[in-house]
Amino acid sequence: MMTVTEKAGLSGDGVRGKTLLALGGGSGIGRAVALQAADAGAEVIVAGRTLEKLEETAARAEAVEAPIGTVVLDMTDADAVARFAEAAPALDFLVVSASSAVHGPFAEQDIDLAQGMFLSKFWGPFRVAQALLPKLRAGGSITLFSGVLSRRPGANCSALGAVNAAVEGLTHGMALELGPELRVNCISPGMVRSEAYDKMPEDKRAAMYQSTGESLPLGRVGTVDEIAALTLAVACNGFMTGQVVDIDGGHMIRQYATR
Ligand SMILES: NC(=O)c1ccc[n+]([C@@H]2O[C@H](COP(=O)([O-])OP(=O)(O)OC[C@H]3O[C@@H](n4cnc5c(N)ncnc54)[C@H](OP(=O)(O)O)[C@@H]3O)[C@@H](O)[C@H]2O)c1
Repeated sequence: MMTVTEKAGLSGDGVRGKTLLALGGGSGIGRAVALQAADAGAEVIVAGRTLEKLEETAARAEAVEAPIGTVVLDMTDADAVARFAEAAPALDFLVVSASSAVHGPFAEQDIDLAQGMFLSKFWGPFRVAQALLPKLRAGGSITLFSGVLSRRPGANCSALGAVNAAVEGLTHGMALELGPELRVNCISPGMVRSEAYDKMPEDKRAAMYQSTGESLPLGRVGTVDEIAALTLAVACNGFMTGQVVDIDGGHMIRQYATR
């Protein structure tokens, strides 16, 4: 007999008993996804370039029965991705929040740096998802990440907006081709407090959160837990594919200043 969850279009009991790989799980949204999934009974593997960060995620989940596994992986390294995919266990959910960002005025944007960002934030998920296809179980899903800049441009963010738009386009194409076995969606967050901004001086970072938050209908920036909860809901919903899902405190509908 179908459970209430199954009737609601969710895959079984959500992530319980399923295997989830969080690429980018050493910090920010990826870490929150990993911890929430582990807490909900999933077997979780976190991957990223820095072992200490991955171990910190695993340590925070110590109370959980099934420990979180860690894999050091640079998604821009084709050989490493191929080796990882070969050895990887069967997976139900692939969540790729790993990325890098560059900022700067378009007129002065260093093209090598912008291309490096595309190698990471676009070609990284592309490469990893393609390599892991044989390991993804039917009924599972792939969840990618873009961001509000794809459709709400920001000054000094032309390249970052473009890479977000590219990830969204990729999501649509993958979803079309990979169904019905696999679903593919993209989460598009607005500004979220995360380690992504750790390199900024603390006072500037606080001012950025404050001013961005005040510009939004909800009056604040988001938390990684809010984004992670939506990510898992999207990853598990059996009737959702090819979608870019905004979670941004109202950024897409906010009032823009004119000049
Ligand atoms: N935070 C925001 O305000 C915001 C807003 C809009 C969109 N987003 C998007 O949401 C996603 C998650 O953001 P976040 O805030 O969680 O960022 P984050 O805290 O900086 O996490 C990104 C993770 O990716 C890993 N990573 C970077 N390059 C990698 C590579 N080549 N191979 C493997 N792992 C790599 C990093 O760890 P290592 O350096 O150790 O590898 C890091 O743990 C990103 O796509 C971001 O663009 C975030």
